[in-house]
Amino acid sequence: MKPLKLVAVSAGLSQPSSTRLLADRLAEAARRHLAEERATEVRVVELRDLATDIANTMVTGFPGAALREAIEAVTEADGVIAVTPIFTASYSGLFKSFFDVIDNTALAGKPVLIAATGGTARHSLALEHALRPLFAYLRAIVVPTAVYAASEDWGTGGDDRTEGLAVRISRAAEELADLVLRRPAAAEPIDAVIPFAQQLAALRP
Ligand SMILES: Cc1cc2nc3c(=O)[nH]c(=O)nc-3n(C[C@H](O)[C@H](O)[C@H](O)COP(=O)(O)O)c2cc1C
Repeated sequence: MKPLKLVAVSAGLSQPSSTRLLADRLAEAARRHLAEERATEVRVVELRDLATDIANTMVTGFPGAALREAIEAVTEADGVIAVTPIFTASYSGLFKSFFDVIDNTALAGKPVLIAATGGTARHSLALEHALRPLFAYLRAIVVPTAVYAASEDWGTGGDDRTEGLAVRISRAAEELADLVLRRPAAAEPIDAVIPFAQQLAALRP
């Protein structure tokens, strides 16, 4: 059986990047859950390296080789982890532009885990008011747990009221793995549509 393909898209800009770190932690957790049933290949797409190509594609409509390859990887993935830094209370422009240049049917029916990093925990709901609707529009199957990591979340374990980052990562990754494993294999294309009258005729005694 072919290994499953998991693609993590990181729109982090800094080096090192907390967004990339979150993407790596989520991808590793999902790979571990999937590995209980299927071998899984993980690939990380760093949008920082594709920024110029993405901007050119917005203007010309023609992606360069590296961007084309990244788009293919996302389109063919069994599951996608999409992670953005929060800029001005929403996803970053680079993150949005990448999903703007992908065909708007490429994610249909595909399990997607959404995640974000931010300077303040106050903007965690950007996942619900910005990222979830974006992927709903693209008809992706978005996992219920969205993961937000504010600066103060790194290295802390949560408290009585809030779960720590590690717990949220593990829960979201498990939800993604469950969706990926339950997803039916792509259906064979239907060659010919049998006319309704012919189907009815076949039922007559
Ligand atoms: C232009 C800009 C706007 C930002 N706006 C917000 C914001 O509205 N809310 C927030 O929580 N953090 C905001 N931040 C902080 C980043 O989300 C945060 O530093 C992020 O984790 C950086 O990710 P990186 O380390 O992968 O580059 C902003 C940062 C920049 C550069």
